[in-house]
Amino acid sequence: CPKPIHSICCVGAGYVGGPTAAVLALKNPSIKVTVVDRDDRRIRRWNSRHLPIYEPGLAEVVRIARDGLRESPQLQEDDVPVALLRQPNLFFSTDVSRCISEADAVLIAVNTPTKMRGTGKGSATDMTSFEAVAAEVVRHARDALGTQIRIQRPGAHFEILSNPEFLAAGTAVQDLLQPDRIIIGSATTPEGLSAAAALAKVYASWIDRSRIITTNVWSSELAKLVANSMLAQRLSSINSISALCEATGAEINEVSAAIGADTRLGSKFLRAGIGFGGSCFKKDVLSLVYLAESLNLQEVGEYWRQVVEMNEYQRNRFSSRVIKRLNSTLVTKKICVLGYAFKKNTSDTREAPALEIIKTLLDENPREIAIFDPCCNPVVIENEIRSLQDYGPPVLSDDGGSVKVYSDAYAACAGSNAILLVTEFDEFMNFPVHSGGSSSTTSQGKKLPASDTNESIKRRFNDEPGCAADCPDCQSGTSYGDPNTDTADTTPKKQLDWTRISAEMQSPKWLFDGRCVIDVPKMNKLGIRVESIGSSG
Ligand code: UGA
Repeated sequence: CPKPIHSICCVGAGYVGGPTAAVLALKNPSIKVTVVDRDDRRIRRWNSRHLPIYEPGLAEVVRIARDGLRESPQLQEDDVPVALLRQPNLFFSTDVSRCISEADAVLIAVNTPTKMRGTGKGSATDMTSFEAVAAEVVRHARDALGTQIRIQRPGAHFEILSNPEFLAAGTAVQDLLQPDRIIIGSATTPEGLSAAAALAKVYASWIDRSRIITTNVWSSELAKLVANSMLAQRLSSINSISALCEATGAEINEVSAAIGADTRLGSKFLRAGIGFGGSCFKKDVLSLVYLAESLNLQEVGEYWRQVVEMNEYQRNRFSSRVIKRLNSTLVTKKICVLGYAFKKNTSDTREAPALEIIKTLLDENPREIAIFDPCCNPVVIENEIRSLQDYGPPVLSDDGGSVKVYSDAYAACAGSNAILLVTEFDEFMNFPVHSGGSSSTTSQGKKLPASDTNESIKRRFNDEPGCAADCPDCQSGTSYGDPNTDTADTTPKKQLDWTRISAEMQSPKWLFDGRCVIDVPKMNKLGIRVESIGSSG
């Protein structure tokens, strides 16, 4: 019979730790969940009305668990119990060692980026942060018998579980509330199995037991890498076919729909585009490559490396097509980039294809590259763009370069020769996008509750009415160097008026659709020529 968990300490108050801890607390009112981070400002934000990350539904979950507020009936139509005041059981603190020492279980949710130097640079996982936290755990955690360990003490007993997350940016709360599966890897010893059972019990308070999979540690760790790698592989596969479509006259959206109708293949993750971005896919594929190569399985490593190479090929193919269509010269031209985040409904710009595309276009010495993104703080974008000029000529217009970040879409598009649709925000579509359509469906195909669709996206960061720009909780600009944490006014603008945009463009007017989402005949009627990925046009 496993020893029950009464308190959890989650180390790392970022994109994974924050939402995971919040939902664990929401669904287990009798468990005390404390999220710790050494970043004082980040913790202050978690304790304020203005959370440091935006995820649909997250503010509501935090308010309930942290402040003991009534559960909102909209949060989960059939899942949330009757509105009741509850005891706060979610806490945020910088007192890492104390919280670790008081917890029955410690959840480590810190960054594991790709190693950028030394052995395995460019593909191995950088374990620096993880190792630092693990050392803290060894120093401060209680062992299974409840004895506090102050020094690394031989004989102290800990069980190490692997519990990978499957949260996608923009749908993290929903992915936690309705996961496809929870994986818990443990040692196969009686102690290991008992620890896994204790953690399973925490999840079982809201997730059906049939969805909680227990495995050994290696299977669990590999399952995480393979899940992301196979999703990435699927995207590289469809993207490679988009090149064939452009050369043959086939339409990629038609091919995707036709193959997706095969229930063995399924229809998700078949939208071709400029290649996948985000902090996870590339990193995890490369970790898999490194693992295979370090185990002397060169062919396996090579096979998966190709997924990343195809992704880069796809992105470069898009940039080359733009340049070629514009007669291989951009010198007198203004190019407008619509969207900068790596996917819609997020302000996350990590590994966003936009930056690489802009870099390639800059080599052609354009008159102007205008950027507009409805979610990203212009300051965040400017800082990233500025990094391009570290060893070269100025890039940003403020510094004498040609890149300008706009906070108004029409101003960004005005006078442009070509518009590049880089992120598929609903605002950019030239057809009605209804809530209940793609905008309210998670990447795993689950419906978001009504309150979490575009309506709540309106509330993005400053979600308290009347919050002043100089609110001490928010402060302005970026924080922690984390693109998720910007405090831009991200109120979505209503869909763009393409008639107005067309009237203000220079002829010939070009739109390059990097996400296969534009209604081409409609755009053509406005006098705009469209080049789409996976279509010969
Ligand atoms: C991904 C996985 O979907 C999550 O399950 C996983 O937990 C997470 O990584 C992680 O490891 O933390 P995420 O990167 O947030 O989540 O976003 P996705 O929705 O998977 O999109 C990844 C990229 O693929 C985006 O650039 C997106 O635009 C692109 N994509 C996605 C396409 O180009 N076409 C599609 O059909 C779907």
